[in-house]
Amino acid sequence: MPKKTTISLIKCDVGSLAGHHVVPKPLLDVGEKNLKVAKENGLINSYYVFNVGDDLQLLMVHEKGESNSEIHQLAWNTFQEAANKAMKLKLYGAGQDLLKNAFSGNIRGLGPGVAEMEIEERKSDPIVVFAADKTSAGSFNLPLFRIFADPMNTAGLIIDPEMAGGFKFEVVDAQEGKKVVLKCPEEMYELIALIGTVERYIVSRVWRARDDLLCASSSVTRLSLIAGKYVGKDDPVMIVRGQHGLPAVGEILAPFMHSYLVAGWMRGSHWGPIMPVGLKDARCTLFDGPPRMVALGLQISNGGIACDDEGKPMIADLFADPAFDLSRKETLKCASMLRRMGEFEPARLSVESMEYTTLPQVIAKLKERFQPI
Ligand code: 13P
Ligand code: 13P
Ligand code: MG
Ligand code: MG
Repeated sequence: MPKKTTISLIKCDVGSLAGHHVVPKPLLDVGEKNLKVAKENGLINSYYVFNVGDDLQLLMVHEKGESNSEIHQLAWNTFQEAANKAMKLKLYGAGQDLLKNAFSGNIRGLGPGVAEMEIEERKSDPIVVFAADKTSAGSFNLPLFRIFADPMNTAGLIIDPEMAGGFKFEVVDAQEGKKVVLKCPEEMYELIALIGTVERYIVSRVWRARDDLLCASSSVTRLSLIAGKYVGKDDPVMIVRGQHGLPAVGEILAPFMHSYLVAGWMRGSHWGPIMPVGLKDARCTLFDGPPRMVALGLQISNGGIACDDEGKPMIADLFADPAFDLSRKETLKCASMLRRMGEFEPARLSVESMEYTTLPQVIAKLKERFQPI
């Protein structure tokens, strides 16, 4: 069996500073402390702890495979410990995404979001991990389509013979709990028909069609479907593999030249433009947003993340770049238009989406006062 390396990005809102703004240092320190010990004990080979807004992100590289109970337990225990600290500090929404009390071997379905990818390392394996706040799982549908199926975005689809066979997309129906695989370019129209409905159909995996090489994996958690009511947003994470017969890192980032609308701004109930930002700006302020996304570049190397001379993983903060200023400007322009609309659709999510959240309580309160016409 060839040696395999697994990239696990597991995230959770364990509590935050000043409302849903940002994960403060004491909570990041819990992640740093626990993953350091896990590395010393040989459970993981590399890690990087960061935050996007109020979501604590644990990036771990190891050789235990996907859905490994030890890795998931490590993340679960870390989130519990950080949530307890948040509770002591009386931070906001302490333990927000920890929807179940007990760990049962796999963190999926318990609240935290998970993107994992087990790969056989190529000669050189560039990876881009994405994480976003104040949005939801389907917000990667559009960029994933652009990256792996749109020849107007990804030149490689046209000029790299290694990509000529196209890519296969796994689409999860988050309402029915079913999934389907569609192949591009042949089934492009059917794919768009589904994943254009971003609140229901979510791209969870992408493979290169000719050899089933896994090249993207994203989280598909819908917290409201677990909790039965609105408890917080399903701020998503994603891992994408690039270069050498796959989209170049520049092609992976190209969809973010322009902003686009995602579901999940303020109270999980509004559409908002996504703002690509560097880590220092990965915090939500205006109307609890605008929704932010970071992209971190790294190289997978011998079971871990390629490190510098001091043994620190080398992480490229890819959106911390004036090249994305246009997108950020578009974000603000669009945000200002939407906010002028207040609570009028389509600034606010549709009634169907609100049905999973808080609107039913308002309707219930008025129920007796409705008269036949
Ligand atoms: P790859 O050969 O790794 O796909 O790189 C092509 C390139 O030059 C990207 O800009
Ligand atoms: P989070 O899901 O990021 O905690 O945001 C909750 C919210 O309601 C912000 O307005
Ligand atoms: Mg929160
Ligand atoms: Mg969040």
